[in-house]
Amino acid sequence: MADLEGNINAKNFQVDTPAPDFGFRIKGAGNHDYGMKRLLGRIFGEDGRTVMLAFDHGYFQGPTRGLERIDLNIVPLAQHADALMGTRGIFRSSFPAELSTPLVVRASGGPSILKELSDENVAMSIKDAARMDAAAVAVQVFIGGEHETRSIKNMTDLVDGGLELGIPVLGVTAVGKDMVRDARYIGLATRIIAELGANLVKTYYCDGFEDVVAGCPVPIIVAGGKKLESRDALEMAYRSIDSGAAGLDMGRNIFQRQNPAAMIQAVRAVVHGGSSVDEAHALYQDLSGGADD
Ligand code: R5P
Repeated sequence: MADLEGNINAKNFQVDTPAPDFGFRIKGAGNHDYGMKRLLGRIFGEDGRTVMLAFDHGYFQGPTRGLERIDLNIVPLAQHADALMGTRGIFRSSFPAELSTPLVVRASGGPSILKELSDENVAMSIKDAARMDAAAVAVQVFIGGEHETRSIKNMTDLVDGGLELGIPVLGVTAVGKDMVRDARYIGLATRIIAELGANLVKTYYCDGFEDVVAGCPVPIIVAGGKKLESRDALEMAYRSIDSGAAGLDMGRNIFQRQNPAAMIQAVRAVVHGGSSVDEAHALYQDLSGGADD
């Protein structure tokens, strides 16, 4: 079996050479069948990028600032998102069924913030995802965590089910508090998730991100993380896209703003509009009437 040396020495990512597309605009999906391609195509724009809005935080931490009333605070933002990431309980209870925005449905869960977070199981069936018209299911993967192996099994079970029904799987890297979010760890976690069959990977931005992207054969979508100053969040978005990320899946950096609608539009300007950080920040300030966060 390969040892740690192989991982330490990985450096020849050839970031300027694109991955093969096999005639389809979404990385790593050219060999999938028709239904899977249709669903992936709903998540990503013609430019192959996406702005996803994440509000699944309540599945382990209950009411979260900005998510107290999803019907009032999040549903109005749906018009600005390419995809919505939430739980089946929230989608069914709080969103109109007529909404056309694609749903990425959280499919793992178990422990609350009061317990060991990696102690998750699969928390919904792939058949229920199909019933909900989900465009993808999302599963947390705890590389290096206490229940690493089970979290991977959760993912591979969903991948098997997803392949049966043609539903993509988004693997989310859950980074423990004691882990360093560097290119070596993020590269390790994202690659494992892709190798074991996920169609999409969600992770955190880090220095050397272009190597992480080049080493991952499926699209990487960057999570927002804790709330930053708006300019810093937009800079993180810009750097992510500039390093080859296929999009952003932001939560707190959007819904905890004074004006979340302004912020998600500023993020869109970076992801889809080619805006610079200054241009996107000016847009946020303009649309928000001069918000100072
Ligand atoms: C966390 O486990 C969830 O997957 C969230 O959706 C994710 O952390 C993104 O939210 P935020 O941008 O607030 O970090």
